[in-house]
Amino acid sequence: MIARGEVTVPGDKSITHRALLLAALSGGRCTLRSALAAGDTRATAAALRRLGVQVGRLGGRGAVTVVGGGLRPCRPPAGVLDCHNSGTTARLLLGLLAGHGFEARLTGDRSLRRRPMARVTEPLRAMGAAITAAAGERLPLAIRGGPLAPLAWRSPVASAQVKTALFFAGLVGGVAVSVTEPVISRDHTERLLRLLGVRVTVEGTTTTVEPPETLPAFDGEIPGDFSSAAYLLAAGILAESGEVVVRNVGINPTRAGFLRVLERMGAVVEVRGRWVSLGEPGATLVARPAALAPVVVEPEEIPSLVDEVPLLACLASRAERGWTSVFRGVGELRVKESDRLALVASNLAALGVAARTEGDTLFVEGAAAPPRGRVATAGDHRLAMAFAVLGTVPGAAVELDDDRSVAISYPDFFRDLASVLHAS
Ligand code: S3P
Repeated sequence: MIARGEVTVPGDKSITHRALLLAALSGGRCTLRSALAAGDTRATAAALRRLGVQVGRLGGRGAVTVVGGGLRPCRPPAGVLDCHNSGTTARLLLGLLAGHGFEARLTGDRSLRRRPMARVTEPLRAMGAAITAAAGERLPLAIRGGPLAPLAWRSPVASAQVKTALFFAGLVGGVAVSVTEPVISRDHTERLLRLLGVRVTVEGTTTTVEPPETLPAFDGEIPGDFSSAAYLLAAGILAESGEVVVRNVGINPTRAGFLRVLERMGAVVEVRGRWVSLGEPGATLVARPAALAPVVVEPEEIPSLVDEVPLLACLASRAERGWTSVFRGVGELRVKESDRLALVASNLAALGVAARTEGDTLFVEGAAAPPRGRVATAGDHRLAMAFAVLGTVPGAAVELDDDRSVAISYPDFFRDLASVLHAS
């Protein structure tokens, strides 16, 4: 396979959620260019509309407009807020609602209803919110916000969703919030808040946000999504020849650990033409074919590449035959859109790769034979895209049970992937 072409990936999912929510809390009309129009970010936009915030249509190449209503912009919603497949929507909304004095109910699809919410409901209760949840502290749940107390929270998991939810509660409640994480997770919220003049301090792995009087309205261009770019870069690396150029990619170091691991595997991605947008560094990335070495990924690296583990595992299956790559501390993958840890291992095994888990560690052996077989994606977008890329290996025959899930984060994924692949 020859991989050659240029792609501009869609807007970053994490930053789009945050920009929509912060725009809602701002003092006026905000225009967000290149916001991601996909399942997850539509869930956030629709929930905000239900809460009485004016949010324009997400879609096309145009910009979305949000009319901020100040730091407590929401009114009681009619009916339940459906977060669909989006954990970020559910957790960030809980933070936003904790400081509002009314009751709201949240639910989601089957995948989201199995995901843990205690990591955010516990600290929000400690701040003063009343939350009642289904058994096991999962969705559906009801939250009644009110006056909040300041919070200093030690989170047992490195989670940007938890950190952001608590900061949003602090903004709406007008109180300071400190979050200590085992390892710093992605810091998109902190960057946006600083840009808006909010005092954010970091000491070790503790981040503190002081409550502002108001948030100014803002406009900006959302950087391209690093996680979406990763699939195209991987296709360029697995190809026999060529060069894949991905333009407009956010390369925030708390998010781009994939590049550092690729480098250790022997695939150096070229970084060209750096820029900054909405406080986020970005660049054009260029990937070329490489012979891959096996790799060991340590627990402290995982937060910076948590969504890329399935893809890295697929790449590790193409590393030098008979050598095993090791991913330590990947237990969080069990509670993503699917049990990614179990499914990565079982699907690789179904394709003829020696892969297994032991506790929170994933082992993947390099295989010489091309992957052939059927993949069960459990409706998980990242599994669908990672295994679709593995299916571009010469001689491969990888069949996905379902490929519609890509609409969650990257609706044009298959078009963009096909645009860079050419038969040799
Ligand atoms: C996200 C953070 C990550 C990531 C998810 C999006 C975010 O989750 O897996 O896709 O936008 O904050 P955690 O921070 O909960 O691990």
